[in-house]
Amino acid sequence: MSITINPAATVFHLQTDHTSYIVEILPNQTLGQVYYGDRIPVKDAYPNLTAREERGGTPTWHDDLPDFQPELVKTEYASFGKGDYRYPAFQLTQPNGSRVSEFVYQNYQLTADKQRLPKLPSTFDDTQDDAQTLTITLKDRLTGVLQHLNYAVFPHQDVIVRSATFENPTATAVTLNTAYSAQLDLPDDRYDFLQFAGDWARERHLYRNRLRPGSQSIASLRGASSAQENPFMMLARPETTETQGSAYGLNLVYSGNFNDSVEVNQFATSRVLIGINPTEFAWNLVPESTFQTPEAILSYTSAGLNQLSQQMGDFYQHHLVNSKFANQERPVLINNWEATYFDFDEAKLMTIVRQAHDLGIDMFVLDDGWFGHRNDDTTSLGDWVTNQPKFPQGLSHFCDQVHALDMQLGLWFEPEMVSKDSDLYRAHPDWLIGDPHAELTPSRHQFVLDMSRKDVVDYLAQRISQIIDETHLDYIKWDMNRNITEAFSHQLEATSQLELAHRYILGVYDLYDRLTQAYPDVLFESCASGGGRFDLGMMYYAPQAWTSDDTDAVERLKIQYGTSYGYPQAMMGAHVSAVPNEQNGRITSLTTRGAVAFFGDLGYELDITQMTPDELQQIKEQVAFYHQYRPLFQFGKFYRIDSPFASDGNLTSWGVVAPDQSQGIFGRYQLLNHPNAPYQRQFFQGLDPKRQYTVNGGAEHFSGTELMAAGYFVPSLKPVKGYSSDFSAQLFIVEAV
Ligand code: DGJ
Repeated sequence: MSITINPAATVFHLQTDHTSYIVEILPNQTLGQVYYGDRIPVKDAYPNLTAREERGGTPTWHDDLPDFQPELVKTEYASFGKGDYRYPAFQLTQPNGSRVSEFVYQNYQLTADKQRLPKLPSTFDDTQDDAQTLTITLKDRLTGVLQHLNYAVFPHQDVIVRSATFENPTATAVTLNTAYSAQLDLPDDRYDFLQFAGDWARERHLYRNRLRPGSQSIASLRGASSAQENPFMMLARPETTETQGSAYGLNLVYSGNFNDSVEVNQFATSRVLIGINPTEFAWNLVPESTFQTPEAILSYTSAGLNQLSQQMGDFYQHHLVNSKFANQERPVLINNWEATYFDFDEAKLMTIVRQAHDLGIDMFVLDDGWFGHRNDDTTSLGDWVTNQPKFPQGLSHFCDQVHALDMQLGLWFEPEMVSKDSDLYRAHPDWLIGDPHAELTPSRHQFVLDMSRKDVVDYLAQRISQIIDETHLDYIKWDMNRNITEAFSHQLEATSQLELAHRYILGVYDLYDRLTQAYPDVLFESCASGGGRFDLGMMYYAPQAWTSDDTDAVERLKIQYGTSYGYPQAMMGAHVSAVPNEQNGRITSLTTRGAVAFFGDLGYELDITQMTPDELQQIKEQVAFYHQYRPLFQFGKFYRIDSPFASDGNLTSWGVVAPDQSQGIFGRYQLLNHPNAPYQRQFFQGLDPKRQYTVNGGAEHFSGTELMAAGYFVPSLKPVKGYSSDFSAQLFIVEAV
């Protein structure tokens, strides 16, 4: 049993293989947090963990309970207005305008499963991996509204999934102004906050800062989870490293506006909140309706940050990613975007396709520009019909030729967008998001469709389905290249406009849901100018994501290393592109570009018709090598070893190890080559200490212990005349004998 309830039914102890999460009913009948951390034995009560002492200057709940001071109590889902001045987990406005709530415990329900949520991407337990769900119901004495706090326990990945459901069984509407997915009240503030931030082309760089008094947060108000801040966060003890120490990981199964905050109050406690951003949000909880928050994933380990990433990644693979693709090897693709941009026609594409076929590449992806009369980024978004001048015999004629070569085919869409120069805009100007009296702010010459409207989702589902039927495509790259401005829906009432941001993302999920249900064999890759919507909501529908538009191998070290904290490598699209690199002009070798891109879902994004025979031969060998080790690269356990965010960042190394520890491949990347340098050794991780291994097929045998504890000697790079020895990469293939 993962969930134990004491005989008085007042304490709920949720246990995973290595963690405990304990909740109790407090003297005021609200729900209190007792403990979250390393697994501890079950007891009937935990007075030591909730000990209280009266403090001055802060309200008490009641004269009879002088030491029950809301600001000092650890709670599960706090309201505002009853003496707890920290940011609340939820806020309701009553019909009379009061924002006070008094939710009290009613009952609980326990089930031996984990059901999906309706209309939202969510976790599941299809493989019957011992998940259990606890729902604790509270009722507001003031309005009669019900609050269901949901906890799903996934014991084997040390994950607890939380969400809240608000239900209004009364005849009167109330407004939900704030509704986070989860709250965690940690008893002290001795933590580092690890966040993954950046911007377009430098997504998810790691920032690690000590918590300070006050509120600190990462958030998005862009209508998407964003490239600037990612909803994934870690809280780690300052001494925690990759391989040891305590850390919590929190993430949100959501792709829209979010807020993850940590508030350190005057008593040095840390309140963590994760969920929908309360700014640009309010929900009319009309009679007989419910509101469901997205799910928050919580995980804890005392074995370091790398373990935390691995257990969360393992959890997503088993309980979040579309099961059909979770373990399915992903195709090596070639994408024509950086090869041709908009300048292509069927004949030009077919030369690339044939060449790619000769190189052993599995799939051709036709990117932006195949529809309407799109020859640049000013037109045709929304008109999902063949660009006739580019495909005079029809798009399906081209697609049939790709399939005839026994290659898979992928197609780019940007479903949520519309160009003003489009038949769709001319027919339905009111389908755009935008205040009718304001001047709409363009971005990349395009505007956002109102995905909260069913007619918009119906139109897109119909158009995209027709293209899938005609082309029999195998993969869709779903792009999204701008964020929402002038948020206003022509269809929503004035009092419901603050529902738009959430309704928008529900519409996106509805479209994904319809398409993935109707075409279960089509692999989706989510994209948002690269990594602008790299989140767990997307991952539920699209098992892989385009990690960043920045394809420079050196830049990718930080981007992929940072991303690996929160997301498994099978989610990361990683392409070899041309040099000088399109984004920063850097020249790196094909070897280095390949050695970085191997640690993700490999693709090529360059004009292979312009390459030398030697370069083509090298690509052919890279593709064959990746095919040979593909399960290891995509699904092996990922180890971060040398961080590009550490010291001068000159060295990065990482590796993947097979679950049975029989094989591992490690990548080592050096930016600048220094002459007369100190001796260097590559340390490996994840091997079986007792087994014997070879390195790169050499004759010498090494124990796992030797390779992990003493490392492997790495000779310095000798410059070769005429070639740069900077930006080098080495791979170490470690195999058990
Ligand atoms: C942004 C994407 O990230 C690129 O890969 C490419 O698909 C372009 N959009 C096309 O407009």
